[in-house]
Amino acid sequence: MDNRPQWGTRAGFILAAVGSAVGLGNIWRFPAVAYENGGGAFFFPYLFALLTAGIPLLVMEFTIGHKYRGSAPLSYARLSKKYEWIGWWQVAVSFVISTYYAVIIAWAMSFAGFSFSLKWGDDPEGFLFGSYLNLAEAPGQVGSIVPGVFIPLVIVWVIALGVLFKGIKKGIEIANKIFIPALVILFLIIVVRALTLEGAAQGLDAFFKPDWSQIASPKVWVAAYGQIFFSLSIAFAIMVTYSSYLPKKTDITNNAFITGFANSGFELLAGIGVFAALGFMANQAGVPVSEVVAGGVGLAFVVFPQIINEFPALNGLFGSLFFICLVLAGLSSLISIVETFVAGVQDKFKISRTKAVLYGGGLSAVISILFATQGGLYFLDAADYFINQFGVALAGLVEVVIVAWVLKELKNLQNHADSMSDIRLGGWWRVCLGIITPAVLGYMMVQNIITNIKDNYEGYPTSFLLYSGWGVAIGAVILGFVFMSIKWQKNTLEIPENKEVSQ
Ligand code: ALA
Repeated sequence: MDNRPQWGTRAGFILAAVGSAVGLGNIWRFPAVAYENGGGAFFFPYLFALLTAGIPLLVMEFTIGHKYRGSAPLSYARLSKKYEWIGWWQVAVSFVISTYYAVIIAWAMSFAGFSFSLKWGDDPEGFLFGSYLNLAEAPGQVGSIVPGVFIPLVIVWVIALGVLFKGIKKGIEIANKIFIPALVILFLIIVVRALTLEGAAQGLDAFFKPDWSQIASPKVWVAAYGQIFFSLSIAFAIMVTYSSYLPKKTDITNNAFITGFANSGFELLAGIGVFAALGFMANQAGVPVSEVVAGGVGLAFVVFPQIINEFPALNGLFGSLFFICLVLAGLSSLISIVETFVAGVQDKFKISRTKAVLYGGGLSAVISILFATQGGLYFLDAADYFINQFGVALAGLVEVVIVAWVLKELKNLQNHADSMSDIRLGGWWRVCLGIITPAVLGYMMVQNIITNIKDNYEGYPTSFLLYSGWGVAIGAVILGFVFMSIKWQKNTLEIPENKEVSQ
């Protein structure tokens, strides 16, 4: 018997897992990535990645967390002492992500307020980069702290760390029970409104119309896997950590399917809502939808304000609803991202939760101030790109190769999952993880590395990319080994008896 905390209910766990998965990635990342990669043609690689990698990996991570009952580093160490570094590597990746993810939520918080007075005026782009972010002239310049970003950033951290202080059942579970239903209701209102705007069909057409010429391109496949991993919070150490708080009896496989489909369902809904709105805007401007589409930051913080300006009625209300959705989705994901290192530090150093939140969360909060400076957007862009390509996606690949081929643990994990679940994992699960994912993801990773060595991302200077992109991604792996070299306290590696709690 041990004192590991537990979720109060199965629904509580599922809401927390869905809350982690549904995040900024679903609302501003997915629609733009889908569009840039062939619109409807993207769905095939996307579904392929979801079914052959996303859900099977989710089952695997849930099983590892449940079976080994520890934070990601502890679970991997219990699986095999030699591979503890994978857990720390993923924790380090999450740590990096937490530092800039919080800043994007802070922007969304500001924009929720700006919406009421349409503060961005007729030029949302100039407003974002000029008046709001006060962007430095060149990548690498830091400049001063931007108060308009810093103040909401403090609020974001107070909420996220406040929830984490409260623990699993009283903090994370309750927060998600409030955030997720609120998010779904608000988002549905926006999507329904978007679908009834003039020109919506034009937007949906652009989103769903297949562009088959792009389907053979490795870039499209890279994008699909990257999106699935980011969006499902796979290889972030999150799902291992969250499932370590499950009670002894739980349906692992079913939980994974519910989480995977809920996340993709929400993602599709976001795509539909965003493109319907883009169709409306193109219709107002009398241009094709392709001319109003922009990715990432631009889509949410430039194009959306433009759309809100054009709204026939209640502009401010719909604007703030959209940004509140971003805040809610972002907060529930941020909480899960920070929980990975809170749990890791707690397990390794045997310190209280309060101290782990204070030190781990506090350090991330301090570093995040870098992204709230005038040069913050450039650092954010480089760190985000590199940590996703060579942190999340690469860590997912390494994880699956080591578990399937080096440790040959798939069969044991399958037996564990099957002993708990209604749905039995057939041979397909091992084929997906042992063969398809390493082959497809491995090929695309090699292509991706070659492309990134040949061409500088976004044309940024090499020196800048070396420390803010490559350096960050490589630093995360190195940290993995550094933390592994610290010894566990006595008996920590023994797997404790799981408490039986009726649900
Ligand atoms: N899964 C989270 C997202 O989609 C990280 O943003």
